[in-house]
Amino acid sequence: MRDPRRVAVLISGRGSNMRALVEKADGYEIVLVASNKPDAEGLVWAEQRGLHTWSLESKGQPKEAFDRQISAIIEAHDVGTIALAGFMRILSRWFVAEWRERILNIHPSLLPKYPGLDTHARALEAKDAVAGCSVHVVTDELDAGQLLGQAEVPVLPGDTSQSLEQRVLAAEHQLYARVLSEFVNR
Ligand code: GRF
Repeated sequence: MRDPRRVAVLISGRGSNMRALVEKADGYEIVLVASNKPDAEGLVWAEQRGLHTWSLESKGQPKEAFDRQISAIIEAHDVGTIALAGFMRILSRWFVAEWRERILNIHPSLLPKYPGLDTHARALEAKDAVAGCSVHVVTDELDAGQLLGQAEVPVLPGDTSQSLEQRVLAAEHQLYARVLSEFVNR
């Protein structure tokens, strides 16, 4: 049984949640930052920080073949828990089964509201008074696994998707580190 406090973070882009997880690490250690996009902005920061990084372009590769490669790298780093942080790729059933109950994701809505993309635009369109973010366990069903924690933020008059995204993102950075720490030390 691997130590759940050894965490791999999977990113595809900016990586602001990954940075928050690294900077707020308490009760866990980020031992690998991996990406399916070699040009992901977050990788540069992780490398400068001296973290182990790995990337491979996933486009054009059969889904499970890619997932088997990333899984082997994760295993080689003796990882116990995987934190998805803006990983814009749906994982194969094989990968989810292999890492069952050990993959977490952060999603920018108050699930079960607004699974999938464009969450902020959808919250504004629905005239919601409150928006937020959720951390959940990853299962085969998109954004539908067990909820581990949520944070609410107000929707303010005049909000655009961009302004709401910024407010929710700040809440994501606080929530994810706290929930991950609780999850791996439970
Ligand atoms: C975040 O809003 C996260 O909730 C969603 O994708 C975005 C990633 O942003 N899954 P970042 O790469 O962590 O900055």
